[in-house]
Amino acid sequence: MSVGPGHRRQVHIETFGCQMNEYDTELVRALLVREGYVMTEDRESADVILMNTCAIRENAHTKVYTHLSDLKALKRSRSLVVGVLGCMAQNLKEELTKQEPLVDLLAGPDAYRQLPRLIRDVVHAQEQDEHSKALAVDLSEYETYDDIVPARIPGVNAWIAIMRGCDNFCSFCVVPYTRGRERSRDPQGILEEAARIAGEGFKQITLLGQNVNSYRSRDWDFARLLTAVADIPGIERVRFTSPHPKDFPSPLLEAVVSHPKICKHIHLPAQSGNDRILGMMNRTYSRREYLALVERIRSMNSRMVLTTDIIAGFCSETDEEFADTYRLLEEVRYHSAFIFVYSERTNTIAARKFPDDVPREVKSRRVTTLVELQRRISTERNREYLGETLPVLVEGDAKKSSLQAMGKSDGNVTVIWNKADLACRPGDLVACSIADASASTLYAGAVARPDLPAKNEHSCTNMVQS
Ligand code: SAH
Ligand code: SF4
Ligand code: F3S
Repeated sequence: MSVGPGHRRQVHIETFGCQMNEYDTELVRALLVREGYVMTEDRESADVILMNTCAIRENAHTKVYTHLSDLKALKRSRSLVVGVLGCMAQNLKEELTKQEPLVDLLAGPDAYRQLPRLIRDVVHAQEQDEHSKALAVDLSEYETYDDIVPARIPGVNAWIAIMRGCDNFCSFCVVPYTRGRERSRDPQGILEEAARIAGEGFKQITLLGQNVNSYRSRDWDFARLLTAVADIPGIERVRFTSPHPKDFPSPLLEAVVSHPKICKHIHLPAQSGNDRILGMMNRTYSRREYLALVERIRSMNSRMVLTTDIIAGFCSETDEEFADTYRLLEEVRYHSAFIFVYSERTNTIAARKFPDDVPREVKSRRVTTLVELQRRISTERNREYLGETLPVLVEGDAKKSSLQAMGKSDGNVTVIWNKADLACRPGDLVACSIADASASTLYAGAVARPDLPAKNEHSCTNMVQS
């Protein structure tokens, strides 16, 4: 790398995948900044470009390969270090090292402490005109990065990973292979991090783990940890994702229902509504057990917002079995759902045991059918809020217009309103009177400070976006 003395190398990181990866990018930023690197948003001027990747489905891979090929011209024009981090680096180390000449370094999710050394090795090799790859893809049973303070971009929400890895081995899922064994962080470190976050002005904390209800450290379980985080002064809202439906202990449910700072939203991935498919997926609950949990949650709080993940077209899924999933959505009436086409992942149990035999068109048709159903249900669910006044945490400008502001309800539904109605800043809690609703958004006709009665003078009709 031809850089003069005193030049501080600039690093650009692109993040793909889930919130855990967003959090990991903040860890990586912290690890590199303390070694003297400078972060840049500008890919063109960066000396090091890192992609923090996801391996969960085929299209996640495709996205990364497309971004990599975009870098070809840049790399030809000057010296540049290109690194692949995260789940794809872990899972595709052989393929990426052998077939992708563009990639100089690979680091899996447990190897980020080695990044400064890996970059140094690559720069050193490039200076000698050598082209070796630097690699760190060992999984660890202990690494939780507990001592690293993530370099967060100031905002409203802060992520905290409370555990890493996953031991559930759902047969379709690559995560246990890319992130290794499940391990929980010490509660003390988490609570200190949460208190620091509150002091920095974040208003919401989202606790992250692949399976948060199996969090355990000494005599701390997830319910205790969640309550302790929600008790920290200055934090308005606490969210978590995801719990596994197989174990939802009553104390956890009681904490969610009763603590005013814990959001009344539970993401409860079902994956399928059919028992044979659930068995093949190794989800360890039946449709009946899942529905009993939904019933238990709703009997404690009938307004709890439930969302889910569904996979359509899993190995050997018949039309009748798919219809069970369709009926599950009709029965539970989730507020929203992520619906995915099954995508075979190398190494997984399903890839080894079951042929991926549902034709592509059938998978797509099933996804479309579920998406259409869910759109209708989500619209109906959102229309239940019409005429209500909801507390909303302001996040910033609406995506489609800077004349509108956007925030989230306690149940995590997006709410937008005209900024002219109330001057507010990200992090403010405002009271929105809901005047219209679509499948994905609530539209506030009036907005006020929560201690004041909401004004009702603005009609919503001119605010509805298509
Ligand atoms: N740990 C989380 C899930 C993380 S992955 C949990 O269990 O809740 C997020 C979602 O991706 C999963 O819930 C599943 O619906 C989907 N997914 C995972 N592997 C997949 C695959 N091979 N094909 C399609 N969707 C998949
Ligand atoms: Fe994957 Fe299942 Fe673990 Fe979620 S619980 S990360 S779906 S193996
Ligand atoms: Fe997340 Fe994708 Fe890895 S969903 S855990 S970044 S495979």
